[in-house]
Amino acid sequence: MAIIFSNGFADNIGSKWYNDPLRITIARLSDAATEISKICARGALEENFGDDVGELNSDGDVQKSLDIRSDDLITKALFDSPVAFYASEEQEDILTLDIEAKLAVACDPLDGSSNINTNVSIGTIFSIYPSTENPETSFLRCGVEQIAAGFFVYGPQTTLVVTTGDGTELYTLDPEDCVFKLSIAEMSIAKSSTEFAINASNHRHWPAPISSFIDDCLRGGEGPLACDHNMRWIGSLVADANRILIRGGIFLYPDDERHGYGEGRLRLLYEANPVAFVVEQAGGIATDGGIRILGKTVRTLHQRVPLVFGSQEPVHLVAKYHHQKAVRNDAAPLFNKRGLFR
Ligand code: AHG
Ligand code: MN
Ligand code: MN
Repeated sequence: MAIIFSNGFADNIGSKWYNDPLRITIARLSDAATEISKICARGALEENFGDDVGELNSDGDVQKSLDIRSDDLITKALFDSPVAFYASEEQEDILTLDIEAKLAVACDPLDGSSNINTNVSIGTIFSIYPSTENPETSFLRCGVEQIAAGFFVYGPQTTLVVTTGDGTELYTLDPEDCVFKLSIAEMSIAKSSTEFAINASNHRHWPAPISSFIDDCLRGGEGPLACDHNMRWIGSLVADANRILIRGGIFLYPDDERHGYGEGRLRLLYEANPVAFVVEQAGGIATDGGIRILGKTVRTLHQRVPLVFGSQEPVHLVAKYHHQKAVRNDAAPLFNKRGLFR
């Protein structure tokens, strides 16, 4: 028994929900997450815990052994679920499981891999769609078609943030009996916040609207935003997203001028879309800086997208900075780069 859902689904044959494919799949993912959580808790006691395996994944990231082990555990769990197709950050192509089944699952099996050896929270992200007649169209579609999404965080607690389209819930893994139990029935993101999360070392590569926004945050009370700000950057999307769901804030991973970062770093199918779904269901907003993430169509499995999400007010403000930049760009070229007199 892996999870006791808010509606009493206890993932056992007796439960009235047992024939609900979505809850069975989320329960199987919870089983895999429980195993991953145990491996994380053992850390360096686990053989080659955070070692590189010497391969690159489809996105060019160095694969860690825990990336692969997590992907294997999830694949095994999904073979035991009503799932037709599985797409993973750690696999080039889509895996066909049970062709008769009605669901398609996309996963980032281990998010925050660069933190594996440092005992910093990492996690697993998942996105669930109704399957179509073929693997490709089951995933190359609009994020708004997700029917469930969420992420596990392996941190001081192991938690599950999940939505099936009717609000966002938080479950906590009880180490006493290894069952995920409902902790927050309705997560709600604060409408405003003065806390931002961005990898500030990339400042010189950012597009103007992002650097202007962050510079104005840094100007604090004396600046145009007229209030001091705080910064947090964990380097694990799931941990930053979890904090923002709990206490508000804005997360930004923009496109930047580095080679390969023209569309940012985060992947639309199995990072941005699932996070956007849980954030929106908790009253927040998720965009690429200006356009709603869930309104974008996935064109390739591992396509990247700039990602800005969190409290409504700061996310709206970033969109305004983008709009002002667009308006200035339309201004006469003479004013584009410099004022008339400088
Ligand atoms: P993954 O480990 O699955 O590749 O994801 C890492 C992502 C995300 O978790 C995090 O927000 C971001 O990479 C951190 O990027 P930087 O290391 O460039 O700051
Ligand atoms: Mn990731
Ligand atoms: Mn990953």
